[in-house]
Amino acid sequence: MSSPVSWPAGVQEAAEVVSARPVGAYTHLVLRAPEAARRAQPGQFVACGTGDSGMLLRRSLSLHAADPEAGTLEVVVAAAGPGTRLLAAKRPGDVVSTTAPLGRPFPLPAPGTPAVVIGGGYGAAPLPWLARVLTTGGSRVVGIVGAASADRLLGTSAVDDATALDGIADAVVVTTDDGSLGAPGRVTDALPEVLLELSELGEPAVYACGPMPMLRSVHTTTREVLGERAQTWLAVEESMACGVGVCMTCVLPVVDLDDDDTPTRMLRACTAGPVFDGDALRWDAIGAAPHLRGGALVPDDAVGAPVVGRAGGH
Ligand SMILES: Cc1cc2nc3c(=O)[nH]c(=O)nc-3n(C[C@H](O)[C@H](O)[C@H](O)COP(=O)(O)OP(=O)(O)OC[C@H]3O[C@@H](n4cnc5c(N)ncnc54)[C@H](O)[C@@H]3O)c2cc1C
Ligand code: FES
Repeated sequence: MSSPVSWPAGVQEAAEVVSARPVGAYTHLVLRAPEAARRAQPGQFVACGTGDSGMLLRRSLSLHAADPEAGTLEVVVAAAGPGTRLLAAKRPGDVVSTTAPLGRPFPLPAPGTPAVVIGGGYGAAPLPWLARVLTTGGSRVVGIVGAASADRLLGTSAVDDATALDGIADAVVVTTDDGSLGAPGRVTDALPEVLLELSELGEPAVYACGPMPMLRSVHTTTREVLGERAQTWLAVEESMACGVGVCMTCVLPVVDLDDDDTPTRMLRACTAGPVFDGDALRWDAIGAAPHLRGGALVPDDAVGAPVVGRAGGH
């Protein structure tokens, strides 16, 4: 698996909204941000200001697409709270302050490597762009998109053609927890069969974007089916206050896969991620901090772990 060593820094632009339309439960926005559109790669995100709303923090959104010729970025917004409600209500001609592209893009496999791309809810947003890059590189690509119910799905033509994997990936599997569309169950219920089918062509590359419990399950399932050497690339959607590496609110415990002697470090998901190698994440400490909305605890053996309460601590 080849990995990009660097990627261009983000830029701030006053991005005019070119179009805004509903896509299922979400809003698809096209933003004119020519410099970011020139630099962006699949897996990166944009931090969007909320104008004169009084909300200081930018809201992070995965890049659904970037068109360097049109000079546009595309995002899909789920109106979850005050900031995203405001963004979802934008109309053509409005202006959004954007910082993009941010974060580490999806590393690409050797040309021709079979791949599965998996999205939960709006986590499917970056997948069609990624799938197009993979198929251009000669990969057979299978998409799996799922959600709790049909109204939260994205990435399937059953919801919307323009944001779907259909026609880009070689096959698309849809799941819903309640069985309201596609196969009843979770994306990981469909994953073993897809992995086994793709394995006939070579060791598949596994890409996923969605909530942390789904990413964890994708990682576990992939290892169960393909063995411990299987590689997963997971795009996390941790809460990000600044999005540019300043505030440390997005840190995750990460091990150095090349050096067993290097202790766990708390890395910023906005700059070291949002795409992580699934093997590098310390799953035992992730989702273990309910007071941080399911955020990660600092493992006792991590660099800089607090010593309060431990023998000999202060
Ligand atoms: C890389 C990435 C990609 C994403 N992609 C998408 C996408 O494509 N579409 C989409 O709809 N949503 C996406 N999200 C989620 C989206 O950023 C959040 O839903 C949004 O920021 C919530 O803002 P709000 O004002 O609506 O809600 P609120 O929950 O009120 O959030 C308020 C703000 O505070 C921050 N915040 C809250 N709690 C914490 C905390 N404990 N630590 C740090 N910061 C905190 C939030 O990040 C947000 O900026 C993504 C998030 C990330 C990190
Ligand atoms: S969101 Fe501030 S450091 Fe990552």
